[in-house]
Amino acid sequence: MMGVIDQGELSVLMTADTIQSRVRELAVEIDGWDAGDELHVIGVMKGGVVFLCDLIRALSRPVTLDFVAMSSYGNETEPFSEPRLTKTLDEGIEDRDVLVVEDIVDTGGTLSWLLKYLTARRPRSLRTVALLDKGVRRKVDVRVDLVGFRIQNHFVVGYGLDFAERYRHLPYLGVLEPSGMRAEDDAVVTTLHAD
Ligand code: PRP
Repeated sequence: MMGVIDQGELSVLMTADTIQSRVRELAVEIDGWDAGDELHVIGVMKGGVVFLCDLIRALSRPVTLDFVAMSSYGNETEPFSEPRLTKTLDEGIEDRDVLVVEDIVDTGGTLSWLLKYLTARRPRSLRTVALLDKGVRRKVDVRVDLVGFRIQNHFVVGYGLDFAERYRHLPYLGVLEPSGMRAEDDAVVTTLHAD
């Protein structure tokens, strides 16, 4: 069983041009940070990967790269059970200037846990950038140094974000309306082009 999304039920939240223009602005801010020359960029898989790829190519300063992946955690009745790294760091971060790149901060649980994990490994500096901040859903007070867009409580897909692993490849951000999701057998999710 999988959900079916009809074309009309995905609306465009941010066009590819809007995203790319904001990514360039974020890169200018990051280039201006006073941290040492080289940034050690840590991407949070999978959602943050698309944003990370555009962001690092817009930066003027040199970067090194690493990735972590985290298990889904919690549920409606137990939202803050401990997350778990399903992919750990390849390299140590001691005395490095670290930038964590996320696609979205929602409840804040993922980033909060990750920042504690990274802080314990003694980076010289540790900062965060998230493309999207869904502040209305925040349950854990977590520091996000730089935010691309603050959004309402929409179900957002595209540009790395998924619904049942689909839509990550879209160059724009779309909003899926709950009414647009219905269960059917062997359904195909419509390919969408919005700009
Ligand atoms: C998403 C997103 C963040 C996290 C944010 O990951 O990429 O890592 O949720 O939610 P939170 O603030 O409530 O913790 P998801 O678990 O959907 O995995 P994915 O990135 O592989 O899609």
